[in-house]
Amino acid sequence: MSGTSLDGIDVAIIDITGSGFKAKVNVLASHSVPYPKKVREALLGMSNTAAQTGDISRLNFLLGELYAEAVEETAERGEIPVASIKLIGCHGQTIFHEGQGAQYLGKKVASTMQIGESSVISERLGIDVISNFRERDIAAGGKGAPLVPYLDYMLLRHRGRGRVALNIGGIANLSAIPPNTNAERLIAFDTGPGNMVIDQLVSRITLGRQTFDRDGGFASRGQFDQKLLAKLLRDKYFRAKPPKTAGREQFGAEFVSKLLDTELSTEDLIATATALTAESIALGIRNFVIPEMRVDEVFVSGGGAHNPALLAMLRKALNPIPVMMSSEVGLDVDAKEAVAFAVMAYETAHARPSNVPQATGAKRPVLLGKLTPNAAPANGKTPELVHNAGTRNGVTHNGNGVAHKVPVRKTSAVNQRTANNKTKAAAVR
Ligand SMILES: Nc1ncnc2c1ncn2[C@@H]1O[C@H](COP(=O)(O)OP(=O)(O)O)[C@@H](O)[C@H]1O
Ligand SMILES: [Mg+2]
Repeated sequence: MSGTSLDGIDVAIIDITGSGFKAKVNVLASHSVPYPKKVREALLGMSNTAAQTGDISRLNFLLGELYAEAVEETAERGEIPVASIKLIGCHGQTIFHEGQGAQYLGKKVASTMQIGESSVISERLGIDVISNFRERDIAAGGKGAPLVPYLDYMLLRHRGRGRVALNIGGIANLSAIPPNTNAERLIAFDTGPGNMVIDQLVSRITLGRQTFDRDGGFASRGQFDQKLLAKLLRDKYFRAKPPKTAGREQFGAEFVSKLLDTELSTEDLIATATALTAESIALGIRNFVIPEMRVDEVFVSGGGAHNPALLAMLRKALNPIPVMMSSEVGLDVDAKEAVAFAVMAYETAHARPSNVPQATGAKRPVLLGKLTPNAAPANGKTPELVHNAGTRNGVTHNGNGVAHKVPVRKTSAVNQRTANNKTKAAAVR
């Protein structure tokens, strides 16, 4: 997994058994590999309109190499043979996302683009790869995001407690799961900035020497400015009703310029940006979650969980709701999203949908992702790309009621190895 912070690559290697929401996940190893500085800069350059197609093409293949290396490194650190990994789920790096759609050449077009070439990953590691998870959800009328609620529901649903899974990455997003309910009543949306505004301020003020407020150092030495905070919180994004998604379009350079245009000290400015993250999360929970369900506890994940100044402000803003780390329910804060894509890859390999239509707005549950098979075609024939779960008489059901005629072969590249229904899957995003 590599998210909007463009900080690096998060890898998780998991063991998974069972199916659907009843699956059991065991995280065997996880590790984050930072992007080399120049790669990060090139990726930042992709979010402006002057990006060159040649650079996009090169970065796509280069990221494929870096993702393969990150899996190798994680496997080595966890003493897990790469050959024992059966499947990789690769989210890739988003370089464009317009899930809501926009008028384009006379038509309304919604689109998304993640790069990190799956053929390179599969070729280097000799493992099947499932990538490009978001496109199918968009094709089915969804916004292509958020996808992580599938894992949140799977691991956090509780009979008696209403729970919020809060991920503070570049953007902060949450899944709220009412007690004793099915996935249809889940509430999921982006609350606004996570670390994105803080990161940009630190980068701009330190002229790139630092890219984030390590351990909340600047913020804890400063005082937030009430007036500026109130002004920033008037942004229409915070008042808009969910479903809603945010990105660099809302909280990128233009938004940050509004903060730089003040007389505040560096510490006070960064404290104010940190308060903006905490307060906008609390606002999202108060305005759009609490009216719908009881909230007994909040579990935090993502890089923001390492920022004590942010957590202190969040706890104060959400008081008396307890704010805990996702690690309390067995999910390392840095690995959660990578685990989510490993699980979704596993679901796809078993022909089971893993979008949550309630979260994305899709018209129906769909199989997410595209398979890049590693296995050489048997007898020179085209390999079958879908799986035993829905295969009857040579017709493979894609789990959505749609059937494709495919060559008769008992097992596919993926399910040959997942036949015992226990799969080791890795994910890079
Ligand atoms: N020790 C830390 N102190 C403060 N912030 C941190 C720390 N470690 C990570 N972060 C923040 O977390 C961000 C990365 O979070 P991550 O969950 O990977 O986001 P994304 O999914 O957008 O890539 C960094 O850019 C940084 O702002
Ligand atoms: Mg990251």
